[in-house]
Amino acid sequence: MKHTAGRFRSRRTADFTESVIRETTRLAIQHGAVNLAQGMPDFSTPEELKGAARRAVSEDFNQYAITWGAKPFREAIAAKYRRWYGVDVDPEREITVCCGATESMIASLLAVTDPGDEVVIFEPFYENYGPDAKLSGAVPRFVKLRPPDWSFDPDELRAAFGPRTKAIVLNTPNNPTGKVFSRQELEFVAGLCQEFDALAITDEIYEHILYDGAQHIPILTLPGMRRRSILVNSMSKTYSVTGWRVGWVVAAPNLTDTIRKVHDFLTVGAAAPLQQAGVVALSLPESYYGQLAADYRARRESILAVLEAAGFACYRPRGAYYVMTDIGGFGFPDDVTFVRHMIETAGVAVVPGSSFFADPRDGARMVRFCFCKKYETLKEAGIRLQRLARSASRASR
Ligand SMILES: Cc1ncc(COP(=O)(O)O)c(C=O)c1O
Repeated sequence: MKHTAGRFRSRRTADFTESVIRETTRLAIQHGAVNLAQGMPDFSTPEELKGAARRAVSEDFNQYAITWGAKPFREAIAAKYRRWYGVDVDPEREITVCCGATESMIASLLAVTDPGDEVVIFEPFYENYGPDAKLSGAVPRFVKLRPPDWSFDPDELRAAFGPRTKAIVLNTPNNPTGKVFSRQELEFVAGLCQEFDALAITDEIYEHILYDGAQHIPILTLPGMRRRSILVNSMSKTYSVTGWRVGWVVAAPNLTDTIRKVHDFLTVGAAAPLQQAGVVALSLPESYYGQLAADYRARRESILAVLEAAGFACYRPRGAYYVMTDIGGFGFPDDVTFVRHMIETAGVAVVPGSSFFADPRDGARMVRFCFCKKYETLKEAGIRLQRLARSASRASR
């Protein structure tokens, strides 16, 4: 029997493209480029956590944990929210441990949206949110964050909300812009959620990577938001363990109930021994988090100096570990051509700005650098970028 083209491709995946970030990583390997594309550290995970993971395997935490998360890990998560934000979270009814923030987000969207519902998403956005919305049948409504400070126009945000709005997805500190949403901005978002009976789904994976006195505020701590928020977080970035795939969702019991059911069918559970190691991670002293932010601040200064010397116009991040840059000065037709040129000629890989926008033209003048890297890696990238700057200035003569 002959197959019709596309018979075995579902409509909901029809406009999915391969993740540009992963494609860039492959090209980077092929050309031996320094990889400042994908947001994963090239330095070691803290020894204490590696030891905790080894111990958990030896002590035989090797079978399924409770599907919504091992009890001691959920208790450690609840203790964290009490300690940092003064919020009481019930580990028995309000926490679901998932395979990273990635599963946490898609499980949450699948749990709360019906086909035809709308989900408001700020753009530029972390590239999973668009496909996440589509997989769950929801229609994304994008609202721009505008440089240089990546603020939003309150009227534009209000106009994106309507009777079909089920949720807004918000990532703070933000990838790719480095924006940290202020209390005032979050209050405005919270007001709209209440007015339009919508949820705030927040991705807070960079909560501890903050600069210049910026403060992270979980929207669920704002008045009227405790039962209207779904908080997504993960061990990946705070503990430099992106490969462990352990994250969690905090939400009111009625929401958690559905999220847990979806999670169970999606993945059953996150790695049991790594949840056990997670208990150790979440019990690290406050000094760990201070050091984490200080180390990233030093890396941020190092990369900003390198980029500015090489001719990039930088948007200074206030959180997370990325720098969005304006490449207008280099005279390339678009970001993708520029990134290929950088990989092939200078040997530095970055992510084209267009991969963070629904309409690629909106990101055509930007590229994103990631700086969760060893100082040697950042230094080597600096040397290579100087070459790029010299070749660009020769070309323009
Ligand atoms: C904003 C944001 N959310 C989620 C993720 C993925 O998180 P996880 O590794 O916990 O699945 C990333 C990774 O870069 C990210 O930047």
